[in-house]
Amino acid sequence: NPDVISPGSLTSSESISLFEYTSKITAQQTLDSGMSLVEKATEIAGELEYSPEQNDGRDMTMIPTYVTSVPNGTEKGVYLAVDLGGTNFRVCSVVLNGDTTFDLTQSKVAIPKALMVSDSHSLFSFLAKQVADFVETHHSDHFSEDPEHHLRLGFTFSFPVDQKAINKGYLIRWTKGFDIPDAIGKDVCALLQNEIDALGLPVKVAALVNDTVGTLMARSYTSPGKTGTLLGAIFGTGTNGAYVEKLDRITKMTSASAKDVGEYDTSTGEMVVNTEWGSFDNAVNVLPDSPYDRLLDQNSVNPGIQMFEKRVSGMFLGEILRNAILSMKQDVGLFATSTIAEDSVLNTPWSIDTSLLSYIEADSTEDFSVTKEQLQKDLGISASTISDDEARAAKILVHAIGKRSARLSAVPIAAIVIATGKLSPPAQAPIDDLGLKDLSLVGQGIEILRRAIGGRSPADLSADAPLPDIQDEEPIDIGVDGSVVEFYPGFEEYVREALRDVPEFGEKGEKRIRMGVAKDGSGVGAALIALVAKMQYSQ
Ligand code: GLC
Repeated sequence: NPDVISPGSLTSSESISLFEYTSKITAQQTLDSGMSLVEKATEIAGELEYSPEQNDGRDMTMIPTYVTSVPNGTEKGVYLAVDLGGTNFRVCSVVLNGDTTFDLTQSKVAIPKALMVSDSHSLFSFLAKQVADFVETHHSDHFSEDPEHHLRLGFTFSFPVDQKAINKGYLIRWTKGFDIPDAIGKDVCALLQNEIDALGLPVKVAALVNDTVGTLMARSYTSPGKTGTLLGAIFGTGTNGAYVEKLDRITKMTSASAKDVGEYDTSTGEMVVNTEWGSFDNAVNVLPDSPYDRLLDQNSVNPGIQMFEKRVSGMFLGEILRNAILSMKQDVGLFATSTIAEDSVLNTPWSIDTSLLSYIEADSTEDFSVTKEQLQKDLGISASTISDDEARAAKILVHAIGKRSARLSAVPIAAIVIATGKLSPPAQAPIDDLGLKDLSLVGQGIEILRRAIGGRSPADLSADAPLPDIQDEEPIDIGVDGSVVEFYPGFEEYVREALRDVPEFGEKGEKRIRMGVAKDGSGVGAALIALVAKMQYSQ
């Protein structure tokens, strides 16, 4: 296939071997041999390993966002923002002070589980009601007749949408356990605006924002640098990333055949693209695929979909652990002599919180006391009945799952940094007949990005020079957010370790990555995009 590129040294999958870590872990942790529980846990850790066998390609969704510039910290104004993430719904007002700082007032409610699998009227009227409570409490002065004075709202809606304007996007599919069939194909801004109007609120839904795009914007506003932020990434309930791409490469927007493309500003020559990398590898089998992953997928509301996300993000790590523990319980008698509460969440799918893994990972005690206490607290297994071997086995599982998540997270980061030419000019790309299956995972990421944004020709890729104003040593800025990257011990370090293993990065490249949590990113980011909407699109 002459269309497929071999991106230089990235083709040698052996040299990348992002997933060889499990053998290292097991080498360290089976010092006392002859322990069947530990050996079993180790074997499971091994099963979580990457197997490079067969693969094929399927594009990520790669959504053009109509956001064509990133902020520089001088933006000003008062905006409302609402954030429908995976777990909570937040309403906030954001005052942008224009000096890289902001003030934020917010309220937050857990999204009732029943609403996640209901109908769109139930969900969106609930959301509008939260907006009403917030506006009545904090902005009652806006209840004027004049629509000019209506509050502009940035709607952070963190699911894949087919975006057609800065404030218009049709839902493609639900992720993260949501399943509301009648909303598919509908414009989610209109769904929210209708419910807001029904309550007579002085609020205009001005911008539709993915949380990754909000994170990218918030990071650019609060830590402006000479070269701006390249990537906003979420490692939370779900995982995804958005990055700044050259407009002329997004042929979805620019080609003659591009359809239904709404108005957008071309002056910067760039646009933020929401990759939806959670769907990386939907149809392929290049990701580590253990029986515990497969069981999780079968029991999910969307089997076969979001396979990358299902190995990386918070909603799923606890369930992988639950599957592995249950299997060990059955096969080798893990916790066989322990007292387990009848209502233990071990028996309830999707109920182990990622925080359990974080606590166990952080346990540095010799007697595993933290692990045992946490197993008692979260799983109802009486701590005094847990043996050291059992605790150690649990810790091995947790470590393999968490570290795998972090190392996988390095893959799309590496792919985007390399594919945008930020690291160095890509090595001369020989055109050969390699298929995706012969590429490393990072190589595949690059290739899939290339195809999905509309496809540069191989000649373009080899001619691609780094942006002229980027010096070799300048940091490459990445804004991150989400419970996993924020709270899982060592997450960033494991990501960095994996980046160092990517030949294009090495130690030097890895050091250039500057990563920072964009606190309240979705709120501030949505406010910033509502501002862009007003300035560029008069929304
Ligand atoms: C899921 C959603 C995506 C979102 C991510 C993080 O992957 O599909 O839109 O950005 O979760 O919340």
